[in-house]
Amino acid sequence: MRITIPELRKLKTRGEPIPMLTAYDAATARLLDEAGIPLLLVGDSLGMVVLGYADTTAVTMADMLHHVKAVVRGSRRALVVADMPFMSYTVSVERALDNAARFIQEAGAQAVKLEGGETVAETVHRLVIAGIPVMGHVGLTPQQVLNLGGFRVQGRSPEAAEQILKDALAVEAAGCFALVLECIPTELSRLITETLSIPTIGIGAGPDCDGQVQVIHDALGWIPDFTPKHAKRYADLAEIIRGIARQYAEEVRARRFPAAEQGWSLDEAVVRALKDRLSAFRSPS
Ligand code: KIV
Repeated sequence: MRITIPELRKLKTRGEPIPMLTAYDAATARLLDEAGIPLLLVGDSLGMVVLGYADTTAVTMADMLHHVKAVVRGSRRALVVADMPFMSYTVSVERALDNAARFIQEAGAQAVKLEGGETVAETVHRLVIAGIPVMGHVGLTPQQVLNLGGFRVQGRSPEAAEQILKDALAVEAAGCFALVLECIPTELSRLITETLSIPTIGIGAGPDCDGQVQVIHDALGWIPDFTPKHAKRYADLAEIIRGIARQYAEEVRARRFPAAEQGWSLDEAVVRALKDRLSAFRSPS
């Protein structure tokens, strides 16, 4: 049985912090699930950390469906949130409904996430009344990268901070069950967290959110030479993978891999019989 939305809300009420991580494949999802992570986000960060794009605008519904299905297959307890990709929910409410429904019906996700505040509130409302749980996302909204000209902290001026607060209130009123706050000042995320009754999940938004989300590749140190300021590298997976690849190549070249225990053997008599019959196989009958 997976974690439910009412259970998440209880965590906020009880003041229990909510850990969330991204996952993009079944193997990783399984490990994070077994470790007790209650919320898995199949983020459109997929585009950057898995597919090699510079930002998330190239990610398609097909890309997302493929990876959401894998994460659902790999997990049992976690609530899986599917990130709606660029242009999949802004063209029309009908398009948003169709696309969000695919994540639930075809891919097996329990919720969707979409970026934006007041401008997407109507869409959020329609999805929620159709029965699709929606996680909001305000502050730095990476799908706006072409307008923003880069990934920058948001909400530093009084006007910008006020707009983010209004956006948070708008998507809560529209029915979001939780809200991602990305790259905003700590004081602003604290105010939003105290004001909203739904859980806030921060990334680069300070310690006072109800939960925290990190991109798993950042936490694992999987992407060499890149650690966003808000991330903590819990390992240096890049170096571990490089080291393993070097060792593997060396062992293959030196014929130390595979060893006897990685193979299967045939009875000596069978080998001899095969050799004896080799000439018969070769000569045309
Ligand atoms: O796509 C993603 O991984 C996200 C998180 C950074 C919140 O939206």
